[in-house]
Amino acid sequence: MTRLVVVSNRVALPNELKPGGLAHAMRSALREIGGIWFGWSGRTTSQTASMAQIQREGNVTFATLDLGKRDHEEYYAGFANRTLWPLFHFRPSLVDFTRQTWAAYRRVNAIFAEHLARFIEPDDLVWIHDYHLIPLASLLRERGIRARLGFFLHTPFPPPELLNMLPVHRELFEALADYDLVGFHTADYLRAFRDYILLEAHGEVNDTGVISVRGGRRSFRAGVFPIGIDVPEVSNLAAAAHAHPGCAQLHESLQGRALMIGVDRLDYSKGLPERFRAFGRLLEEYPEFKRQVTFLQIAPVSRTEVAEYRQLKRELERIAGGINGRFAEPDWTPVRYLNNAYPHAALTGYYRQARVGLVTPLRDGMNLVAKEYVASQDGDDPGVLVLSRFAGAARQMGGAILVNPHDQDGMVNAMRAAITMPLADRRARWRELMDGLEREDITAWRRSFLAALDVTAEARDGRLAG
Ligand code: G6P
Repeated sequence: MTRLVVVSNRVALPNELKPGGLAHAMRSALREIGGIWFGWSGRTTSQTASMAQIQREGNVTFATLDLGKRDHEEYYAGFANRTLWPLFHFRPSLVDFTRQTWAAYRRVNAIFAEHLARFIEPDDLVWIHDYHLIPLASLLRERGIRARLGFFLHTPFPPPELLNMLPVHRELFEALADYDLVGFHTADYLRAFRDYILLEAHGEVNDTGVISVRGGRRSFRAGVFPIGIDVPEVSNLAAAAHAHPGCAQLHESLQGRALMIGVDRLDYSKGLPERFRAFGRLLEEYPEFKRQVTFLQIAPVSRTEVAEYRQLKRELERIAGGINGRFAEPDWTPVRYLNNAYPHAALTGYYRQARVGLVTPLRDGMNLVAKEYVASQDGDDPGVLVLSRFAGAARQMGGAILVNPHDQDGMVNAMRAAITMPLADRRARWRELMDGLEREDITAWRRSFLAALDVTAEARDGRLAG
């Protein structure tokens, strides 16, 4: 019997109260098919545990591993988030590569493989997520695992000229080539991957997405699978959110002013300083918006082990303080800047109240806030999404106002156009965006990936048998 084995650095355990969209999708896939979710427990201990902890919920088993402080530091804060994350988000100047963290990255992946191998049966579909775990397929194959192995990258994939800068780019690519299927959010990332294969690995790519490398000794598939959201769930949460005390309080506090909202992890890829500065410029150049518009930025702190994240936090405090110092009045604060995280239901209610949703990352694999903002709107009086062209979501969301976050004048114009957009235009854009969200939703995403993984491996087994 085919089971699903999901592997990711973070695991949303059954008792976790506020799982994100991806966690929710994985849980429903697991419930539908039955299987296992394996990953880090979220805890660091003095030494990496020798046994995984097991929890069961119906037909789903959660197996998680405590990581030793040093292992975790070097693998997660080190190679994953100081090397791969900035490189994959087009920030080579922030990349810090050391052989030591590369070794730790492979060591922790090997520990994961060792534990995981005990759970995997030959008929399983194994779905591995994100840049923390690229080497897992090779390490599982070394342990004799014959199950079908799929990998999905939730970040952008950089062009070969950037990837080449990583001293171990070839090893990383060879590790990807050990999967049966590699999935990306957009055709741009797939193109970058193909360019690498053609230019660096001297492999071949055929029209059906089959990639042959190393003189055709091994072949695998790669494809585009844009992640979506559970549209009715988000819409229903948003429509019911007025009952949430936080939403009523926000509404009252606005005193009829237009709300612009941003919700992002506090990460340098999200373009927050650029967004803040553009808002400051908007108030400077168009004083008619003073007292009329409030910008709420929710930015929960993230990865504070990494110096750049701590620096960014200080920078945003300075910019937000500067704008408020300059423009605020005793009864109006232009920027409300918060580092707290809020429950999903409350966020959907905040989105629904916001006339403008600002999603302006410098680079982003997909960005589900953009999608949730749209699904949270009241269709009779919807708000407007301002979306960076550098978010993967921009490829599907042409009904948003697309911006280049490096272009401050363009950002100011987009903010202005969004705040003042007539109702008929807002409705037309919203309808178009909703149609897209409904077509390519979270269920379509996981089903299409798993269907492709199923077929791909059959083809591989056929070839091996032949
Ligand atoms: C991004 C990554 C995820 C990661 C999430 C939160 O969305 O693609 O893999 O889990 O950020 O980051 P964190 O480092 O807190 O897990």
